[in-house]
Amino acid sequence: MRKANIVLVGFMGTGKSSVGQVIAGELHWQFVDMDTLIVERQGKPIPRIFAEDGEPHFRALERALVQELAAGEGLVISTGGGIVLNPKNIEDFDATGLVVCLRARPETILDRVGQDTNRPLLAVEDKLGKIRQLLEARSKLYDAIGCQVDTDGLTPHQIANVIIGTYEFSCL
Ligand code: S3P
Repeated sequence: MRKANIVLVGFMGTGKSSVGQVIAGELHWQFVDMDTLIVERQGKPIPRIFAEDGEPHFRALERALVQELAAGEGLVISTGGGIVLNPKNIEDFDATGLVVCLRARPETILDRVGQDTNRPLLAVEDKLGKIRQLLEARSKLYDAIGCQVDTDGLTPHQIANVIIGTYEFSCL
């Protein structure tokens, strides 16, 4: 059966948003960035959602949005890095989409997102230590995803082409 959506999962800074936009452009599909959509709908940035409403509330917003998007078609979906924390999210996306996990080394992640103040979980002094700690805590969840793409040293276009190739191969 042809999969209806392509879903990008992975830790912060693995390139989900930039790669997703390239894939959507090449396939002429619609790009959806879950974090951006949550921010638009809540009318406040993610650090404020975490600070004012708490992380569990953010996770509930993510869960509801997964259910909405998994029912869609022709979407390239960039998820937030913590989407794997609720296994139901991956189950729902697996049912109608090709789920791809993007990977990168902790140092690459630090290079890509270290200066960004928009990630509340990395608002600490020792960012590399925190990245390593979160990656370790989540490693089994990311490892469980069937399709894995290593992004170190690759451009978003190169990564997008690997994923489009995988999608076409898996669906023909
Ligand atoms: C999070 C990752 C972020 C965002 C939120 C929590 C996480 O998304 O959803 O700050 O738990 O890893 P990105 O992966 O797009 O940075």
